[in-house]
Amino acid sequence: MRPDNQVTRREFIASTSMLLAASQLGMAQTTNREPDALALEGGVKAVPRALPRPKRWGEPELQQLSAAVKQDSLYYWRNQQTQLFTERFQAIYGHKYVQPCSSGSAALHIAVAAAGIAPGDEVITSGITDIGTVIGVLFQQAVPVFADLEPQTGCLDPADVARKITPRTKAIITVHLAGNPSRLAELKEIADQHKLILIEDCAQAWGARYRGQPISRVGQISCFSLQDSKHIGCGDGGVVTTSHEQFGPLLIKFGDKGTNRLNPKDSSTALGANYRITELQMAFAAAQITRLENIAAQRAKLGNLLTAELAGVPGILTHKVHPEDRCVYWFYLARLVPEKLRCDRATFVKALAAEGAPFSAGYISVPLYGLPMFQNHSFFAGRWPARECGLTQMDYTRVRCPETEAILKTCVRFGVNEAMTEDDIRAVAKAVRKVAKHYAA
Ligand SMILES: Cc1ncc(COP(=O)(O)O)c(C=O)c1O
Repeated sequence: MRPDNQVTRREFIASTSMLLAASQLGMAQTTNREPDALALEGGVKAVPRALPRPKRWGEPELQQLSAAVKQDSLYYWRNQQTQLFTERFQAIYGHKYVQPCSSGSAALHIAVAAAGIAPGDEVITSGITDIGTVIGVLFQQAVPVFADLEPQTGCLDPADVARKITPRTKAIITVHLAGNPSRLAELKEIADQHKLILIEDCAQAWGARYRGQPISRVGQISCFSLQDSKHIGCGDGGVVTTSHEQFGPLLIKFGDKGTNRLNPKDSSTALGANYRITELQMAFAAAQITRLENIAAQRAKLGNLLTAELAGVPGILTHKVHPEDRCVYWFYLARLVPEKLRCDRATFVKALAAEGAPFSAGYISVPLYGLPMFQNHSFFAGRWPARECGLTQMDYTRVRCPETEAILKTCVRFGVNEAMTEDDIRAVAKAVRKVAKHYAA
């Protein structure tokens, strides 16, 4: 090159032909014209456009928040926004008692306390869920007992629930995992036979229907989460609900520092936390709940379409939903069948991501009983009073739920959302079929 940074003609020709050769070489490396070639190996992506994300809030939430700001109190009890949310919730779920509270975990703690679960009592539940399902059980010094799950839903297997019942069992908490109703009729029958209280954890299942009816009506007490990632939310929040007179006033009491607001003369004291919500969250949630039916219907349609499109693909177990139920797919849960594939789960998911179909490998890393605080029985400053006082002999190091563990080792999840179209889902299914075919054993 000349000192004045001008290139000579010869230098120009040499550099441009090198660039041309390099780009041709690059083309050869990134394009594979075989019709079934994986995008990972230079093939054409199965999903042609970036999958859309929903716009989750806007004008209705702003208007409702403005209404709250014009009020002279943001305290929840018998205030306008809480009333409005409650009416809208009741219009869907039909329960007499509705106690909005600070989170889904709070709702579940209130439910367990209202159900009268005492120290040493056993509560049967699922090992694949959020820790919030059992926080309240542990705080009441009761004992979570883990029953195994059904392979293609991840919901409680009623037969194993029945096997786990002991004279100390007082309740069952069933989790409608990923928005799919669990087998409520069988669970209620078992609960009734043994005089147990059935609590529904509906945190992931806003809008789901069991045999045509909104979930929450089979169990005696039901709990919802309004945490940010749920179908509808308000940052953080929850709802606990019942139509049973025996529990209704207790939901209020245990949600609000043990005070019976319905009956000021009630002097019986109860240790209840401050799980109150505020009018600001309720304003937001009152607007959000008007979006629920569209969100639930669209997710149900798209998730079911994905199942139909994946029918019979070797190496894939689809998300199983009872034909009379509505699953609202908080996520789509599929499983890989390792014997039928020549690759591991991480490779499968990497290949899907390259196709433009973002799946996650797994869900929670271990079943709840595998968490260190369960394995070490160290819930309270390294100790577990229920066991130290001889109220339980539970040893979580010995708990085994084979199907639960297998689900976590083989599951892959897809984040279906209401902004997607049927074409998006068909493209995602095409990606799964292509990757499964490529790695078929
Ligand atoms: C099944 C289930 N139960 C309970 C909870 C707890 O809800 P929150 O996060 O509102 O406390 C969650 C939240 O993710 C959940 O998914």
